[in-house]
Amino acid sequence: MMGIAVPLHVIAVVVWVGGMFFAHQCLRPVAAAQLEPPARLTLWAGVFGRFFPWVWVSIVLVLGTGLWMMFAVFGGFKGSAMYIHAMFGLGLVMMAIFMHVFFAPYKRLKKAVAAQDWPAGGKQLAQIRMLVGINTLIGLITLAVGSGGRYLAMLTAG
Ligand code: HEM
Repeated sequence: MMGIAVPLHVIAVVVWVGGMFFAHQCLRPVAAAQLEPPARLTLWAGVFGRFFPWVWVSIVLVLGTGLWMMFAVFGGFKGSAMYIHAMFGLGLVMMAIFMHVFFAPYKRLKKAVAAQDWPAGGKQLAQIRMLVGINTLIGLITLAVGSGGRYLAMLTAG
């Protein structure tokens, strides 16, 4: 079963963290340089509308497979090494940040775009940009902890 859980877990985090990296580091600077607010904000509302459902799918898979491995294979909170606790904690922070983005600034961005209120939309986009930047960084750190943890002595104590 680890042969199924680990690939699902890793594919889900690659889609999520890779998507954030592309949006923040590649699409954002080009959109900011080339598009005026109406086109830029409409683009982002559409891009998030396509990306965020995948993030929800990723969260269900990451949490489902991660907790399954933690409890069915590693012996729960007590039996799991420190890097697994760290991965779990960082993952929960990422999920909380995403849910905040989804239910607060993203919801307001959609409203602003529908009302063609570009200054209001710009404020929400700035908020999302900052939070996605933070989540990309936490995501990369969590990937390092999750993939390297078992080889790093300081993280392997149970
Ligand atoms: C939030 C709840 C999470 C739980 C409970 C969890 C739990 C686990 C467990 C038990 C493993 C297996 C460890 C091993 O075989 O040594 C694992 C592997 C892994 N996890 Fe997580 N994880 C979570 C979230 C995340 C997140 C958010 C990321 C990345 C952003 C991540 C990245 C990884 C990676 C890269 C592996 C390594 C797979 C391998 O090399 O075999 N995990 N996770």
